Amino acid sequence: MRILVINGPNLNLLGVRRPEVYGTTTLAELEELCRAWGEGLGLEVETFQSNHEGEIIDHLHGALGSAAGVVLNPGALAHYSYALHDAIEAVSLPVVEVHLSDISRREEWRARSVVSPACVASIRGHGVEGYHQALEFLAGRAGASSRGERE
Ligand code: DQA
Repeated sequence: MRILVINGPNLNLLGVRRPEVYGTTTLAELEELCRAWGEGLGLEVETFQSNHEGEIIDHLHGALGSAAGVVLNPGALAHYSYALHDAIEAVSLPVVEVHLSDISRREEWRARSVVSPACVASIRGHGVEGYHQALEFLAGRAGASSRGERE
């Protein structure tokens, strides 16, 4: 089962950008961790990062038919990108939203995610472990649906 892990704007600077908020793990390290966690769960993880909304949307569209689910940290796009919301809805793949920080406990403008309603789950404030939880969620969901098919 293929899972796409997408990181949005400014997440290429992980490890350098506000480590007290986002931690010291770099993007390359995080992507490696995701591949290893995926392997442990029987998932093939592909990673992608972009600072450009349109590229992220194109990648989501590309996931249709090629991936079974998506782990998405939309970065600040979460707070205003209705285009991203619509793209998630359009591909009708299970998308788990992840935020390293707890967006509900920071600035007021960060508290709301317009992307969340289109996602099957939203994991916030667990640092890089949140990506692990998202992969576990998708693996568990796929296992449950294939068990259902057999019954
Ligand atoms: C973030 C939270 C966003 O508000 C912020 O713009 C980010 C990172 C997080 O992972 O906590 O870029 O998505």
